[in-house]
Amino acid sequence: MDLEMASRRYRRFAEFEARGSSSCYESWAWGIASDPQLLSLIDRLPEQKRQPNLVFAAARFLGVGEVLFPEFKDWVVRHWDALAQVVMTRTTQTNEVGRAAAFLPVLAQLTGPLALIEVGASAGLCLYPDLFSYRYDDRAVLHPVGGTSGVTLRCVTTGEPPIPIRLPEVVWRAGVDLNPLDVNDADQMRWLECLVWPGQPQRLQRLRAAVAVARSRPVSVVSGDLNATVAELVAAAPDGATVVVFHSAVLAYLSVDERIRFEQTVRALPCHWLSNEGCGVIESVAEQLPVPAGDTPGRFVVALDGTPLGYAGAHGQSLEWIGHRAMCAPHQAWISD
Ligand SMILES: C[S@@+](CC[C@H](N)C(=O)[O-])C[C@H]1O[C@@H](n2cnc3c(N)ncnc32)[C@H](O)[C@@H]1O
Repeated sequence: MDLEMASRRYRRFAEFEARGSSSCYESWAWGIASDPQLLSLIDRLPEQKRQPNLVFAAARFLGVGEVLFPEFKDWVVRHWDALAQVVMTRTTQTNEVGRAAAFLPVLAQLTGPLALIEVGASAGLCLYPDLFSYRYDDRAVLHPVGGTSGVTLRCVTTGEPPIPIRLPEVVWRAGVDLNPLDVNDADQMRWLECLVWPGQPQRLQRLRAAVAVARSRPVSVVSGDLNATVAELVAAAPDGATVVVFHSAVLAYLSVDERIRFEQTVRALPCHWLSNEGCGVIESVAEQLPVPAGDTPGRFVVALDGTPLGYAGAHGQSLEWIGHRAMCAPHQAWISD
């Protein structure tokens, strides 16, 4: 048993991830970090199942409200078996469409029309960047050609990313996930909703609106491992389209060897490779990053064909453009998503 390690993990989550984003999760995480009873329950779970985000989402899925820590603790102790069962059968598959705001400036610079392939797509909600509205800083809102979809992504920028004046044309989209979520399955969508942190009503609203978009324009997200399927998906894309294989918050779930294999595979395919991952997740990208003064865990890097172009907030809420300049040193990639 290593309660100290579990305690550190929850403390780190409280301090670097939840603080400023969800006061409820912050207080639960601080509470657990110094509670030997809950730490030893959590320690019974397999290592990869002890993530705060997973444990908290499972508790909310089973009905715990946004209560103070003592009540939360009492609830967890009483419902531990049911909670552990949800933790063991579900995974953190947060599908955050806000990340499309970090991708858009890059996608819009590519010669269209585009064929998009998302690996690690969850429910596939990020496959519709051409159907969302965007507001960068205080610029005018950028709307899709066919009218608004109810999803407006807001993004604060620095370093002058090339904000497009129109959205790219997407003629084909496909995805793969180890466990694709079905936008028409109410139980699975409720799980996705529980992965949105308490105190973030805008994220919840935009998730629901994005689910409605996906229901109206179904895409195929196949079940499988990204390394095993990416070549097949690229081969299936239509002639005449620029193929873009993209991913966000995915490669941290792979071993280092699997990440390298993916990079080698995708670099050899006739496509662009667009990534948005934690700073240290893709070694070849991380090597090009200088160490910025304010580097903090939880930042993502947007890279095209392995070249870092900008730092993104974990949910696409910010984009710090660095163009072709290189950026930050690798740091521990925490999976909390
Ligand atoms: C945190 S979610 C991110 C979903 C989406 N990319 C987004 O940004 O909203 C990570 C997803 O990657 C999937 N995943 C993890 N490892 C994978 C693999 N080896 N092959 C395919 N999908 C994988 C998980 O099932 C999960 O749905």
